[in-house]
Amino acid sequence: MEIERYLESLVPERPAELAAMEQRARAVRFPIVGPAAGHLCYLLTRLIGARRVFELGSGFGYSTAWFARAVQENGGGIVYHVVWDEQLSREAREHLAVLGLDGVVRFVVGEAVEVLRRTDGPFDVIFNDIKKEGYPAALPVIADRLRPGGLLIADNMLWGGRIFDAADRSPATEGVRAFTRLITSDPRWISALVPVRDGLLLAMRR
Ligand code: DHB
Ligand code: MG
Repeated sequence: MEIERYLESLVPERPAELAAMEQRARAVRFPIVGPAAGHLCYLLTRLIGARRVFELGSGFGYSTAWFARAVQENGGGIVYHVVWDEQLSREAREHLAVLGLDGVVRFVVGEAVEVLRRTDGPFDVIFNDIKKEGYPAALPVIADRLRPGGLLIADNMLWGGRIFDAADRSPATEGVRAFTRLITSDPRWISALVPVRDGLLLAMRR
């Protein structure tokens, strides 16, 4: 898409390892957030001076790298990389080590919402990128672990346009719709949907 290519062209040159991760994602069709959304996450994390970030559903560590870079520049802290899959966790470890960012990342293998439930908060930023049918049930746990003024970032909130197809009642599409409704109708959240790549929902916890 023309706008997406343009936005990506505006992202500054990044470390070779990050570019290699983008190539790998393309080659094996793994859904990473991509450079434009990744760079926006980095900017937001720098803006609020976050030191504690929790990722639900981290893949092989691409988004983690952007958050970790921001946390390191903010003076250090911790980014939780949480995936169900041990192989993905190992790959993420390797990538983050090459980037010199593994010192601010904690790698946890497990069901992301369950891990967040048993991890002490509060967090400055929580990034949600788990399976979409799981989004609504994750929200109360996220709300409980985010500090007041903290930022929730949720990926895939446009869901490739499937949310506009009234005939699509699949659990994933319904999960994205319900999550959107829950946040935008709750006065405890101040939110905006930013249509970068597949839609990032940004929401501040009052
Ligand atoms: C897809 C994209 C994502 O960013 C994700 O987290 C899960 C799935 C997809 O395009 O199928
Ligand atoms: Mg995603």
